[in-house]
Amino acid sequence: MPIQSAYEILEKSLIYLDGKPVGTAAACDELAVAANYHECFVRDFVPSALVFLMSDRSDIVRNFLQVVMQLSGQQHVMKGHKRSKALMPASFHVVEEDGKERVVGDFGDRAIGRVTPVDSAMWWMILLRAYVVTTNDWEFIETKEVQRCITNILELYTAERFESSPTLLVPDAAFMIDRRMAVYGFPLEIQTLYFGMLRTAKELLIKTPANQEVIDNLGVLADTLRDHIRSYYWLDRKRLNEMHRYHSEEFGFDVANVLNVYPESIPDWIYNWLDSRCGYMVGNVGPGRIDFRFFAQGNLLSILFGITTPTGAQSIMNLYLRHWDVLIGEMPLKLVYPALTGEKWRFSTGSDPKNVSWSYHNGGNWPVLIWMFVAAAVRTGRVELAEEALKKMGDRIKEDNWPEYYDGENGGLIGRRANFFQVWSVAGLIVAHEIMENPVSRELFDKITFGETLKH
Ligand code: GLC
Repeated sequence: MPIQSAYEILEKSLIYLDGKPVGTAAACDELAVAANYHECFVRDFVPSALVFLMSDRSDIVRNFLQVVMQLSGQQHVMKGHKRSKALMPASFHVVEEDGKERVVGDFGDRAIGRVTPVDSAMWWMILLRAYVVTTNDWEFIETKEVQRCITNILELYTAERFESSPTLLVPDAAFMIDRRMAVYGFPLEIQTLYFGMLRTAKELLIKTPANQEVIDNLGVLADTLRDHIRSYYWLDRKRLNEMHRYHSEEFGFDVANVLNVYPESIPDWIYNWLDSRCGYMVGNVGPGRIDFRFFAQGNLLSILFGITTPTGAQSIMNLYLRHWDVLIGEMPLKLVYPALTGEKWRFSTGSDPKNVSWSYHNGGNWPVLIWMFVAAAVRTGRVELAEEALKKMGDRIKEDNWPEYYDGENGGLIGRRANFFQVWSVAGLIVAHEIMENPVSRELFDKITFGETLKH
């Protein structure tokens, strides 16, 4: 396992502000890196943070949390609009002006396609919990600034809008898949992060009389959201059979086909894909719409955050086993299955040449996902699957110079436009390796991912 080399790259990727490490660059290839990959992306920093927490360097995580918190709400505001104080940037970098260093955030206003980073504040909150689980530094959590920031985030994310379900409604490309990919509406990954964030906020808000109502309500919201995801997103043979025989155009309160999904919209590939031991969470649901695609990150997070039932979690791991050659492939892990092709690709991506079938977000394989897979496999007692996947990756990734993603149905080719020395590929492997090899890290990771409720 090329762990030594991984640590060296991670070290090289550190970004400093006034001499203090505050984040890691998205990639650190000396030759060529995409325009903004020198920046620290909030979501990319998550596995880096886990490595730092596991190796007694929690000060870096605290610096990061502080920098991002200070950037929140600094986005460009459109004429006639009010500033939301809680929006957190997709990425940031340090600039020097008149001999002074300053941090500049990108809230999607420079990002390709002007996409909104809805996931940033949710990851920030989850990392905040991870930080206090590791350090017990409640003093930091209880500062006015941090408490204010949590409250601001809750105001933005739980504001009443046009709710017809407890899930969070977002535009296309609001998370890790940050290009148009028909992931607007209620994508699974956002819902799992949302659940994680609600649970976290409930634990981190100080229990003052003024906060009590908010805290109680957070518990109710989280439970309702979990129950909703369990019943609307879960798919197994039994449920598929129900859908296959759905009646449509049902009006009123007591109906089976609540979203009016037409059985004709069930794609052919799904019939052979599931056997009686497999199941998973579908990618998205909405009026008249089920996106049957399998999104790895949402499914793995729903195991780690306790959204799936224990039986559900086993069924997802069974699915991995059944479709090992595609979902793990030559390089773990498939981001989305299946790829959009032909007309569907044209309409759903706007003919995006970067997201052609079986490439990048459209069915590419992403090494970063290894940490979540290994963690989910260990959590469900399927250690042999974790070992197999990790071995696949470790044998090859260093030789390939740590690409960002791989192409092909089985993920055998280095991604056509992939960056090299991609830092979350590096950090993802270290976290996975730590979980497998180091019982202390494994225990810590368990706590970080809600293995036990925080007591304070
Ligand atoms: C790409 C990915 C995004 C990631 C960024 C930096 O834009 O889609 O998820 O944060 O690269 O690695």
